[in-house]
Amino acid sequence: MSWLSVVVVAVWAMLPAYVPNNAAVLAGGGRPIDGGRTLGGARALGDGKTWRGTAAGTAAGVGLALILDRIGPTVAAVIGVDVPGFPLLAALALAFGAMVGDIAASFIKRRLDRERGAPVPGLDQLDFVVGALALAALFVPTWFADTFTPGVLLVVVLLTPLLHLSTNAIAYGLGLKDEPY
Ligand code: CTP
Ligand code: MG
Repeated sequence: MSWLSVVVVAVWAMLPAYVPNNAAVLAGGGRPIDGGRTLGGARALGDGKTWRGTAAGTAAGVGLALILDRIGPTVAAVIGVDVPGFPLLAALALAFGAMVGDIAASFIKRRLDRERGAPVPGLDQLDFVVGALALAALFVPTWFADTFTPGVLLVVVLLTPLLHLSTNAIAYGLGLKDEPY
């Protein structure tokens, strides 16, 4: 595979894990998952992790995966890159895994006494990648191994922080997000 094909496959495979965060920003609000509970003085997760945001994020990721799965063969024929399909379980693992990774990062951030919205470089950009890949590896191991070859994984890890930072900067510019990261 050419390096460009690897990049295309990496972005395509990760799109269902990329949109949940953005959908959560748009749809978030309402009751926080931790219900306001604290743990050792700090909030367990914080007001930035809500049931509605998590459900909307997961639904958006799964919905996108199902669309990509349908248009994949046509896109592959047009651009000549063998983009992966998304079995339902893979769609769920990527989308929900992204939300779980982001929630786990908030848990860690609160234990480190970082307020809601405080940046933790690295963690903020890769938490959802780790969550999505971990759940995919766990629940759809064969699909995971076929899709995320070492080259694709490398591109995902290098490219995701850049994509994440640029979309968040746009969301901030549009007034949808409180911080540009
Ligand atoms: N959001 C949500 N539910 C989630 C994730 C995000 O409702 N599971 C919404 C919240 O409104 C949140 C916004 O999306 O404020 C931005 O998400 P994020 O940057 O992950 O949260 P922060 O507010 O920065 O909080 P934290 O410090 O815990 O990451
Ligand atoms: Mg944040």
